[in-house]
Amino acid sequence: MDMELISTYVKNLDRELGGGIPKGHIILISGTPGTYKSSLAFNIVYHSSREGMGAIYTLLEQSRDSLLLQMGRMGYDIRDSALSELHIADLGKIRQALSGVEPKSWDKGFRGYVESLVEEHLPEILVIDSLPVLEILSYFKNRREYLFHLFSWLKSLQLTTILVNEKPSITSPFGDEDFLADGILQTALKPIGTSDLQRQIRCIKLRAMNHNTSWFALEFRDGGFRIAPAI
Ligand SMILES: Nc1ncnc2c1ncn2[C@@H]1O[C@H](COP(=O)(O)OP(=O)(O)OP(=O)(O)O)[C@@H](O)[C@H]1O
Ligand SMILES: [Mg+2]
Repeated sequence: MDMELISTYVKNLDRELGGGIPKGHIILISGTPGTYKSSLAFNIVYHSSREGMGAIYTLLEQSRDSLLLQMGRMGYDIRDSALSELHIADLGKIRQALSGVEPKSWDKGFRGYVESLVEEHLPEILVIDSLPVLEILSYFKNRREYLFHLFSWLKSLQLTTILVNEKPSITSPFGDEDFLADGILQTALKPIGTSDLQRQIRCIKLRAMNHNTSWFALEFRDGGFRIAPAI
């Protein structure tokens, strides 16, 4: 059986992944601050949803308005008519939906809320931006157990999932999420010479795919992302 693949809509990246992201995978976009993690997640669901593949973007770190302002300035069409298949639920909206839910049950409430969005909109892609903030809002004693249940739940949704993950530096150790995920795209800001920095991306793992693991320059130009050989 052929595996269905989802495009990243980053020029030249799908090829380096072996074709794209397998449908149903749980993927981490993991990286240091300001390395286009959210923009990349948005880029995938923006284009996918315009191709008819509906998506839900849960935004726990910033408001819907602030994300759309940023994306609009980058050149994405953020009019409601362009985003009809992309449902963005920010923390304000989620809090509203979960008002009255005990802090200890917030995690369960969040899952129920996402399930209700999935039932309503029948998306194919789910974004959680970000995993560390979801952890902060959730109550658990054992992180490993928490992540195991989170990933089992995500698998049960049978969607392609993108989890935005923050890493303080590229030398940060791997966490349990790195083992549980089907794929990891890592983003970083690398020094070029003595005075410059370059945004870079690499695929650390992608189950079932014969992907490249090299670093590439990640550029946003003329309204779109592309990768190029790293300097
Ligand atoms: N119009 C633009 N064109 C290209 N790049 C831009 C534009 N506006 C902002 N940026 C870059 O995008 C970066 C932020 O991207 P984004 O929010 O996707 O990163 P992030 O990794 O999610 O960051 P954070 O760690 O804050 O969540 C900014 O640091 C800025 O350098
Ligand atoms: Mg972000």
